[in-house]
Amino acid sequence: MTRLIVVSNRVNPPTGAGEESVGGLAMALAAALREYSGLWFGWSGQSTPTFTGQLSMQKIEGVTAATIDLEESDVEEYYNGYANKTLWPLFHYRTDIAAYDRAFNEGYQRANRRFAETLRPLIEPDDLIWIHDYHLIPLARELRRLGLKNRMGFFLHVPWPAYQVFVTLPGHRQLVESMFDYDLVGFQTEDYRQAFEEYVLSEAGGEKVGDDLFKAFGRSVRVGAFPIGIDAPDFARLIKTNRARRMRDLMTACTVFRHLIVGVDRLDYSKGLEERFTGFERFLAADPDMRREVLMLQIAPVSRESVEAYQEIRARLDAISGRINGEYADVDWAPFRYVNKNYRRDELAGIYGAARIGLVTPLRDGMNLVAKEFVASQNPEDPGVLILSRFAGAARQMKEALLVNPNSPDEIADAIRRGLAMDKPERIRRWSALFDNVQREDVTAWRDAFVDALKGVEERRTALA
Ligand code: UDP
Ligand code: G6P
Repeated sequence: MTRLIVVSNRVNPPTGAGEESVGGLAMALAAALREYSGLWFGWSGQSTPTFTGQLSMQKIEGVTAATIDLEESDVEEYYNGYANKTLWPLFHYRTDIAAYDRAFNEGYQRANRRFAETLRPLIEPDDLIWIHDYHLIPLARELRRLGLKNRMGFFLHVPWPAYQVFVTLPGHRQLVESMFDYDLVGFQTEDYRQAFEEYVLSEAGGEKVGDDLFKAFGRSVRVGAFPIGIDAPDFARLIKTNRARRMRDLMTACTVFRHLIVGVDRLDYSKGLEERFTGFERFLAADPDMRREVLMLQIAPVSRESVEAYQEIRARLDAISGRINGEYADVDWAPFRYVNKNYRRDELAGIYGAARIGLVTPLRDGMNLVAKEFVASQNPEDPGVLILSRFAGAARQMKEALLVNPNSPDEIADAIRRGLAMDKPERIRRWSALFDNVQREDVTAWRDAFVDALKGVEERRTALA
């Protein structure tokens, strides 16, 4: 039987203890691998003074995970550096804070080479190799250099930026060239796929053959849009667990006679939290009568704390949340709860289920799974309203949400007002359409579509006909 080898920087096999760190990629891959015998390979999250290449194997809930420690300088230059100070801001349209440092790029290439050299002995000839996200774009090139002929696919979990934004990256050509060592490249949405196409055709002198084959750099690659989803059946189970019920009851008890508005995000500058907080503040300022009718809960576990931009956004959010409660709280009551703790998904399911409004307003987001989890957790007879950024990949599939421009606190405030006023028939109508999509285009559909497309590509052609 063909094995599936999944490779990502972050590896989080489900422990069942709820201690996994947050992030859509790890959530989705854990779900996608559950029914596949195969391997999940990546970084352990640990570092050593020099690189050892020592593998550590773990089998948890049917998923075999093989991880390696990285050298301290790799963590600094590859993970904190090129991945999180260069590519992440660039791909999320923050060219103003993207850092270009030759040492970061060298660290990125080096870490990818180390991943390849350690992974190489674990691969068998028939294995399908599926590589994930911006940390590992050049991994196929490194594996091919070691002689691997296997079919290899790449999926980008974050946005692919518009042509004019992407070309601000020094060395953009080299990065795209390395994508032509894959057999299949997948993006979250049709928009990102198109932006990639524009680059290949206008900057790389490439050509498009048929619907999805691109030729450039003397090689060819298939390219498609594969929107990721949540594990819908697992979520249906989660919302019925005791822990989810307890959390829902607790939140309902905290909000008697009030509506709960909820946001759940990694603490990241791409998530639009400042604008969201300000939107809530404007809502409170404009509607004195509504002030005692709502409670906003923002869960934002800290992320990538070694990177300055993350320390700065954290400090700003502390200040705004303090200001909101300073202005509007009373001795017996506060309008805003801001929590930096990481919650288990069953607890989140309970919290979403108690909320009248889900606020998902990233400035840019590859997909955003929280939007889908919120929908999956609603009571069909009295569902809450999803307010969603038009710049989240999820907005492409979730048109029945209240779509907003996340840069505008005023639009967010208006949407909160509209969501609170929405009558039950309209809420049910919108929610049913959203729920339908969340169930249909779930993580299993995503995995099967990608893996089937990868299986379907012809044997690797290294030269163009
Ligand atoms: N998450 C979690 N606990 C938290 C906050 C978030 O388990 O306290 C999960 C959340 O349920 C979702 C994922 O982290 O599955 C976030 O994925 P998303 O696609 O929304 O954003 P990302 O973090 O990948 O940018
Ligand atoms: C996003 C990225 C993932 C990443 C996750 C958490 O979902 O697309 O690749 O794993 O954020 O970030 P971290 O830096 O903690 O892995």
